[in-house]
Amino acid sequence: MISGASRGIGAEFVRAYAADGWRVHALARAPEKSAALTETVRRHGDRVALHPLDVTDHAAIDALAARLRGSPVDVLLNVAGVLVANPFGKSDYDRWTESLRINLFGPMKMSEAFVEHVAASEQRKIVTLTSMLGSIGGNASGGMYDYRSTKAAVNAIMKSMSVDLAGRGIIAVPIHPGWVRTDMGGPRAEVDVATSVAGMRAVIAALTPAQSGRFLSYQGTELAW
Ligand SMILES: NC(=O)c1ccc[n+]([C@@H]2O[C@H](COP(=O)([O-])OP(=O)(O)OC[C@H]3O[C@@H](n4cnc5c(N)ncnc54)[C@H](OP(=O)(O)O)[C@@H]3O)[C@@H](O)[C@H]2O)c1
Repeated sequence: MISGASRGIGAEFVRAYAADGWRVHALARAPEKSAALTETVRRHGDRVALHPLDVTDHAAIDALAARLRGSPVDVLLNVAGVLVANPFGKSDYDRWTESLRINLFGPMKMSEAFVEHVAASEQRKIVTLTSMLGSIGGNASGGMYDYRSTKAAVNAIMKSMSVDLAGRGIIAVPIHPGWVRTDMGGPRAEVDVATSVAGMRAVIAALTPAQSGRFLSYQGTELAW
């Protein structure tokens, strides 16, 4: 199950898992408008279910969870995110609040709503796309108060989930995709989306309970909080 599936990293996760034979629930605000999802459905339509979903709409998340009751979810992938990055003195608190609703409350609400689906699956993994920019230990360049704080906070909730859900055999990790060439990462980013997603899929496939609650990169290395 993949949120933020319309473009960028989320769309590539949908394509790659479907091509690999997985059954994929692709969640996007407007799936019918996504060229990437349309193409993946054309190729692998029997394996891809599209669901319109804005991750700030908690009632819609609950409704989807109820509709899919009884369907196990092996990997819940929280990908939807926005980058709001203003310098000191220029904070836009309305946009900062909205980015918290997407980047922090989105993964939290999705995890609370779908925990039974994950617990009923074979793999039992909850993975949230975070960023190295959320690392406090790795912050040498300052700035980006808004984006950094949403990702530091989502790291904190993933750590708590790793503790609270361990008894149910659920693995929870925040993962950094690299600096990726998407609309968010821009054309000068270091990593192409296929490489990033292939790396993350390998890391996710190999996750062990001992790694739960660690801050991992798409290459499988452990990052500083
Ligand atoms: N690219 C990078 O270098 C990089 C680095 C570190 C971390 N990340 C993280 O990786 C994730 C994916 O990034 P990306 O590069 O693929 O970004 P992107 O190209 O900007 O795509 C963002 C995705 O999030 C969706 N989204 C935004 N708000 C949403 C909402 N309220 N409900 C549902 N979906 C929503 C967008 O849907 P719409 O099409 O409807 O807008 C889109 O599918 C994000 O969490 C980002 O913070 C990216």
